[in-house]
Amino acid sequence: MQCLVLEDHQSVSHYVAKQIRDQVTRKADSVLGLATGNTPEQVYALLVKWSAEDPALFSRVHTVNLDEYVGLAPEHENSYHHYMRAHFFSHVQISKERMHIPRGDSPSAEQECNRYEKTIQKLGGIDLQLLGIGSNGHIGFNEPGMALRMRTHVTDLDDRTLRDNVRLFKRQEDMPTKAITMGIGTIFQAKRIVLMATGKQKREALRKMMSGTVDPRCPASILQLHPNATVIVDRAAL
Ligand code: PGA
Repeated sequence: MQCLVLEDHQSVSHYVAKQIRDQVTRKADSVLGLATGNTPEQVYALLVKWSAEDPALFSRVHTVNLDEYVGLAPEHENSYHHYMRAHFFSHVQISKERMHIPRGDSPSAEQECNRYEKTIQKLGGIDLQLLGIGSNGHIGFNEPGMALRMRTHVTDLDDRTLRDNVRLFKRQEDMPTKAITMGIGTIFQAKRIVLMATGKQKREALRKMMSGTVDPRCPASILQLHPNATVIVDRAAL
C-alpha cells in the first residue's frame, strides 16, 4: 500500500479524479468501482467538467457502486442512486445499463446481494475502485468486526456510522439501520484501489489503518495487503 500526502482536500480531489480519467483513457471500457459520501464530491465535479470537454470519455465504462441503504428506493433523496445521479450520472454520457448500484428496495435484500455480486463477476471484476473511509475505519459499509472475506451482503450499520450519517436525513427515524454493501472480499479483488481521506476527523481511522497489522476492528487495514492500493490524504488527515 502506498501513501501520498497532498496539501488539501482540493489537491487530493484533483489527483484522484486524474487517476480515474487516466484509467479510462488507458482502457475505455474500464469497470469503475464508485463511492459516495462527502469526500468524493469534488472528484465527481472534476470528472463532469472533463467529460464536458470530451463527451465520449465515460461512454464505454461500467460503474459499480459500493453500497446502498436497505429500504430506500432509487428515487429517495437519501439513496445512493440519488447521490450518483446528482453528482455524476446525470451529467455524463453513460447509458443506464452500464451503471450498477444495489437496489435498496428489492423484496429480498439477500437475493439482491447475490445478483449484484454476480454482476460484478460477469463484468470481469473491478479495474479501479474508489474508496473513502469512515471515521470508524469502514470501507463501503464493511463495519468494524465483520469477516474480512465476505462478498456483497446485508449489514447492520455501526452506531458510529449511524451518528455520522444521520445529519443527512430529515428525521432520525428516517435513517435506515441496514445496508447492502460490497464485501471486503469483493473490494479486495479490484485490480487497483484508490482510497481518499481528508480532514482531521479521519485521523484516527487512518492511524489504525496504517498501523502495520490487519485488524477486523478497522476493516480498511486489510488494504495494507493489497498489491496495488494507494491512499491519498491531505495534511489535516495526518
Ligand atoms: P464521507 O464518508 O466521505 O462522507 O466522510 C466516507 C465513508 O463513510 O466511507
